[in-house]
Amino acid sequence: MTGSSRGIGRAIALELGRRGADVIINHRRNSTRAQAQAVAEELSQLGRRTLVLKADVADPQDVAQMFSIIQSEFGKLDILVNNAASAVFRPLIQLEEKHWEHVWDVNLRAINLCIKHAVPLMSRGAIVNITSLGSIRYLPNYGALGAAKAAIESLTRSYAVELAPAITVNAVCGGLVDETGFSSMIPQDEKERIAQLTPAGRLVKPEDIAKVVAFLCSDDAHMIRGQSIIVDGGLSLGLLR
Ligand SMILES: NC(=O)c1ccc[n+]([C@@H]2O[C@H](COP(=O)([O-])OP(=O)(O)OC[C@H]3O[C@@H](n4cnc5c(N)ncnc54)[C@H](OP(=O)(O)O)[C@@H]3O)[C@@H](O)[C@H]2O)c1
Repeated sequence: MTGSSRGIGRAIALELGRRGADVIINHRRNSTRAQAQAVAEELSQLGRRTLVLKADVADPQDVAQMFSIIQSEFGKLDILVNNAASAVFRPLIQLEEKHWEHVWDVNLRAINLCIKHAVPLMSRGAIVNITSLGSIRYLPNYGALGAAKAAIESLTRSYAVELAPAITVNAVCGGLVDETGFSSMIPQDEKERIAQLTPAGRLVKPEDIAKVVAFLCSDDAHMIRGQSIIVDGGLSLGLLR
């Protein structure tokens, strides 16, 4: 479970734990160790086995080491959720080469790297990649991450075929998710406006994403392959309201 110290990743880790999974909590920074440990503690209280692993998913050495520890501690994997993300939010024309490298490395190359390391540990199971409406819609200052999310959805379709039949691969594409680092950057009145435009009547919560991820990891979703399931309360339908 990459990037599970907070936000949506935390909610997914806890939902999978509630449904019986042992969960490995990954985070990137020393400063978020306590948050990652707190998620692990909640999982332990649910009776799940857990492990906190600090690794930068954009760093090939970190990723190799993380999966080597997973192999020695757990022996196998049934589920990989690629949730970690990081971006530079600016108009495209203002992005420098290093910004593009960062966005591409953390969001696209990292997912491919994690899948490559995870697959040898998975005789069956599910891979779920977390994307966003930026993959299919214009969002201000989101051009680079949106392009990476679109590429992830393409990667999802290709892996869904190449890893079939034993491993399902899908994406969950979220609208603006409240109670996250990203949503804290959006002014409150703008969030209220988006909530009003959302047919479901409110913003998406991390738990809304987590439940769909958990479903995609279940046997009930065996025949869903290569899809990007939009979880946005209907916002992207663009209804005139
Ligand atoms: N928030 C939204 O409105 C929204 C909407 C749609 C989709 N999404 C997607 O949902 C996912 C989670 O979003 P969020 O808002 O919950 O994120 P967040 O609050 O910013 O948390 C990001 C998580 O990813 C980890 N992370 C970041 N860079 C990493 C790296 N290089 N290596 C390992 N871990 C790394 C962070 O670890 P540290 O805590 O150590 O920094 C943290 O656990 C992302 O894929 C995002 O694009 C978000």
